[in-house]
Amino acid sequence: MPPAAAATLLLLLLLAAALPLSSAATRCPDCGSIRVPYPLSTSPTCGDQSYKVQCDAGGTLLFDTLNNSYPITSVDPESQRFVIEPASLLANTCVTSDLVHQGVQLNSSLPFNVTSSNTILYLNCTTLLLSSPLNCSSASLCHTYVNGTRDAAACGAAPICCTFGAGGSTTSYSIRVRDAGCRAYTSFVNLDTSEPVSLWPKPGMEIQWVLPPEPVCGAQSDCDGNSTCRPDPAGSGVSRCFCQAGLKWDPTQGVCVEIVTCQDPGGCGTDRTALIAGLTSGIGTALVAAIVALLLYRRHRRIKEAQERLAREREDILNANGGRAAKLFTGKQMKQATDNFSKDRLLGAGGYGEVFRGILDDGTVVAIKCAKVGNTKGTDQVLNEVRILCQVNHRSLVRLLGCCVELEQPLLVYEYIENGTLFEHFRGEGRGKLSWTRRLQIARDTAEGLAYLHFSAVPPIYHRDVKSSNILLDEKLNAKVSDFGLSRLAHTDMSHISTCAQGTLGYLDPEYYRNYQLTDKSDVYSFGVVLLELLTSQKAIDFNRASDDVNLAVYVQRMVEEERIMDVVDPMLKEKASTVDVETMKALGFLAVGCLEERRQNRPSMKEVAEEIEYIISIVTAKVVES
Ligand SMILES: *[C@@H]1O[C@H](CO)[C@@H](O)[C@H](O)[C@H]1NC(C)=O
Ligand SMILES: *[C@@H]1O[C@H](CO)[C@@H](O)[C@H](O)[C@H]1NC(C)=O
Ligand SMILES: *[C@@H]1O[C@H](CO)[C@@H](O)[C@H](O)[C@H]1NC(C)=O
Ligand SMILES: *[C@@H]1O[C@H](CO)[C@@H](O)[C@H](O)[C@H]1NC(C)=O
Ligand SMILES: *[C@@H]1O[C@H](CO)[C@@H](O)[C@H](O)[C@H]1NC(C)=O
Ligand SMILES: *[C@@H]1O[C@H](CO)[C@@H](O)[C@H](O)[C@H]1NC(C)=O
Ligand SMILES: *[C@@H]1O[C@H](CO)[C@@H](O)[C@H](O)[C@H]1NC(C)=O
Repeated sequence: MPPAAAATLLLLLLLAAALPLSSAATRCPDCGSIRVPYPLSTSPTCGDQSYKVQCDAGGTLLFDTLNNSYPITSVDPESQRFVIEPASLLANTCVTSDLVHQGVQLNSSLPFNVTSSNTILYLNCTTLLLSSPLNCSSASLCHTYVNGTRDAAACGAAPICCTFGAGGSTTSYSIRVRDAGCRAYTSFVNLDTSEPVSLWPKPGMEIQWVLPPEPVCGAQSDCDGNSTCRPDPAGSGVSRCFCQAGLKWDPTQGVCVEIVTCQDPGGCGTDRTALIAGLTSGIGTALVAAIVALLLYRRHRRIKEAQERLAREREDILNANGGRAAKLFTGKQMKQATDNFSKDRLLGAGGYGEVFRGILDDGTVVAIKCAKVGNTKGTDQVLNEVRILCQVNHRSLVRLLGCCVELEQPLLVYEYIENGTLFEHFRGEGRGKLSWTRRLQIARDTAEGLAYLHFSAVPPIYHRDVKSSNILLDEKLNAKVSDFGLSRLAHTDMSHISTCAQGTLGYLDPEYYRNYQLTDKSDVYSFGVVLLELLTSQKAIDFNRASDDVNLAVYVQRMVEEERIMDVVDPMLKEKASTVDVETMKALGFLAVGCLEERRQNRPSMKEVAEEIEYIISIVTAKVVES
């Protein structure tokens, strides 16, 4: 063999050896005393490469965050969780050693997150934290911890500390410490706060991993005999080892396993035909069939008569004392209109249930909302509420056309608004179309719609869930408020002790937490948040902001106090802003902050808000005329 050919062959052999053969679906060896379950990966030849962890020379398993590493103290493959040891305090200070890395910062593109089992104690915080949603009161658990822990003694000299539950809300990927916020933290998994500090477990932070999909493959040879290398139908352009027929992917073991079918006929779903056959075999089959048919017929007739009577009564309730007629739709009509509630008719799922696009017999396009009504709610009450809501008539309010109370859940039928919600416009390409004047008009229309509900509807209607995803924009970008009065429908029997929060996080009146009542001024508060969204194009709650700035209302209020309001205005707006625009942006910002006043009595009424916005618009448009 010529040397060149030999070299090529050798190279090929080497390449073949280097190929990660059946790479993913093998479990990595233990690290020290810790078992490393699939999909965690300590090397390129085992585990799933998206789940990298390190096993250092000393046999310690380490979890890498963006700029740091933390030892893993335990792993639980059943729940896909492990616990890391949080950073400790620098000697004799109340500053954590990872302050330079801003605390625990997970790469949010990786399949790991911080679980909600963690109780986080933030230590040595600035006064800024006092206006955060965290518990920084003098009764906060962190004080108990500091007082009872020798290692944290230095923190006794730092007056402000805060406690909160991680995960889910502010902190799935980041437990942030920084000079302008808190300078230290610690964390406990599944803390029983009723225990004295001396019995608390060692600090730990629990991290969860997402169950892994099938392993990535380049060719069939990367997969084992039970799977085939095929392009991932979920897109992303990669191929994966999909299990062959009769087998399914077991993400905890990382192998294809047999699909377990029902072995025990008594266990899963009794066979009814067999049962009936058994019963009837003794008696004359024909006779039984005749009796059954007769009974069924009578029952059917009785039900039908009762239904007709009920429908007449309901129609009467719905259209009592005049007003615009509300229509009572039948279940059949609703099923036809929505193609039997087919998934491709689904427009979205709001706080009160799913919304479908429906087409009525006469061709009218409508939005049909399944109201998740509290089950104590009687049909008559639902009809009565619908009747009141149907009488609402204002150009900036989505019209309720009628309802259907025949199916399992009551359905509300609305006029259909084509263009999407304000919320979507901020996220999508539409943001550019929302000029400053247009945003002001949206603000004014929304305010007028709400003022109408508060001051002109009889009885007054409080929306109770004002937010940008409840403001629809039509094809001309006119605002239409939807879902008003719905939460009333959902929980009228809510007592004051109920912990069942109404409204939406980020928009909810803070006074609600004091007395569990929502008033017109709660709508004013939520509308203040919408104004901030219009001004900043930022989300009301955004976990990508620092944990003390997650809440847009808190964030902007802080910026206003620091006289930096223009720093938060949407850069797209600032780009084209004239001096008058800038001044009116500030004016709207101050109006919003007024709506967010902690005390209800200090907030303006919705009418005053609408007038103020009208005034701001008149200044902006006057400028247009002059120039
Ligand atoms: C709190 O943090 C600041 C800023 O890092 C630091 O200078 C101070 O020493 C800390 N307080 C205590 C009590 O360690
Ligand atoms: C993390 O590391 C990156 C690059 O190594 C650096 O740009 C960034 O500032 C670091 N962040 C922190 C908080 O240390
Ligand atoms: C985060 O993880 C993704 C996916 O592995 C990687 O491409 C990206 O570089 C990581 N980001 C940082 C800042 O390390
Ligand atoms: C803060 O936490 C303490 C202790 O758990 C609790 O008693 C207090 O009510 C909490 N305060 C707030 C405002 O949630
Ligand atoms: C601190 O702990 C001691 C006992 O360890 C207790 O007597 C004292 O009341 C505690 N102080 C506070 C403010 O909790
Ligand atoms: C963390 O990931 C798990 C698994 O995907 C998911 O169920 C959970 O909701 C996530 N938690 C947070 C706080 O994002
Ligand atoms: C293929 O699946 C069968 C049935 O589950 C199992 O017994 C066998 O070990 C699997 N083979 C491989 C290579 O995983």
